[in-house]
Amino acid sequence: MAKLNEKNEAQRVATDGQDLLVVQNLVKYFPVQGGLIASILHKGKIPAVKAVDGVTFTIKRGEVFGLAGESGSGKSTIGRLVLRLYEPTRGKVIFDGIDLLKLKPEDMRHIRSRMQLVFQDPLAALNPRMTIGQAIDNPAAIHLSHLNADERRQAVLDILHQVGMNPPEAYYNLYPHQISGGQRQRIVLARALVTHPELVVADEPIAMADVSVRSILLDLMLKMKQEFNLTYLFITHDLATAKYICDRIGVLYLGKMCEMGEVGEVYEYPLHPYTQALLAAVPVPDPKRRRTTKMPEGEIPNPINPPTGCHFHPRCPLAQAICSQKEPEIRELRPGHTVACHFAENFLPKE
Ligand SMILES: Nc1ncnc2c1ncn2[C@@H]1O[C@H](COP(=O)(O)OP(=O)(O)OP(=O)(O)O)[C@@H](O)[C@H]1O
Ligand SMILES: [Mg+2]
Repeated sequence: MAKLNEKNEAQRVATDGQDLLVVQNLVKYFPVQGGLIASILHKGKIPAVKAVDGVTFTIKRGEVFGLAGESGSGKSTIGRLVLRLYEPTRGKVIFDGIDLLKLKPEDMRHIRSRMQLVFQDPLAALNPRMTIGQAIDNPAAIHLSHLNADERRQAVLDILHQVGMNPPEAYYNLYPHQISGGQRQRIVLARALVTHPELVVADEPIAMADVSVRSILLDLMLKMKQEFNLTYLFITHDLATAKYICDRIGVLYLGKMCEMGEVGEVYEYPLHPYTQALLAAVPVPDPKRRRTTKMPEGEIPNPINPPTGCHFHPRCPLAQAICSQKEPEIRELRPGHTVACHFAENFLPKE
């Protein structure tokens, strides 16, 4: 466990030393803009988008934890809450035993060098007027202030080399538009890793990349994980990608976790009809794969007014009366495998 300064030490809470990140009952409601009329319509209560609504998970050191779910399910919001780029409405985020939400901004800045975010769109993430060298030097100048200019330049060249931009000197003075999309994503990764973080939140890191380079980028991320002892929170809506890179996965629906467990376990024995539907939509060359449902029809409902009971019930092919009345509890039905569905027992494998 890393040493903290005295002020941060006071925020240390007891956790399993194995856990790098603990997220407990995390809630984020975004108030809807448009004040007066909305307030009258909702009888004085300002309506809110319930983007994240009571999410709990833990990531062990060295693990790749995936967050999956359709668009709007709250994946990116969770990523930002973890880095405290958004303030949660409620809940806890504990990083390396430190309760982040109790930290003052200056202490948070110090911790932030240990956590980095990689976005999906490298063009948006890179300033077109900055050379690649400058882009990577920027975080280094803030977080590696003990290095002098020459040492920093060497650190930038080293990380360029490690992400496969060789020879690194050839790329240092180029601008983002002068390299390919796949190379730009390598630069975004290099910029995140130059400060040697422990946790990387990767938000759809390969979604914008050409199909031909996606698996190369995933392999690069796995290689970097080994070399830098990284832990990933890997956000994706693509379950095939999640299967390739993740150790464990959580499936989100309308801001709630519906299923969580080791990737092999969840893919082999999906216990939630939503997970089953997502998996059924993934093309797999295995004709023996169990398929119980089709991809649910319709769109995700409005997160300002989510359905009562189980949020998924209007789209669930198996829904019964209780599903619209009572929110299902999260239950561990197989070792390390949790699910929030009243009828999940139906999908347990027969002994
Ligand atoms: N800054 C914001 N202000 C208001 N609402 C927001 C804000 N950010 C996200 N939301 C809303 O919160 C919900 C969750 O959004 P989020 O971006 O976390 O979803 P996502 O799972 O990452 O989706 P995608 O796969 O499309 O990236 C959506 O309904 C979105 O419109
Ligand atoms: Mg997103």
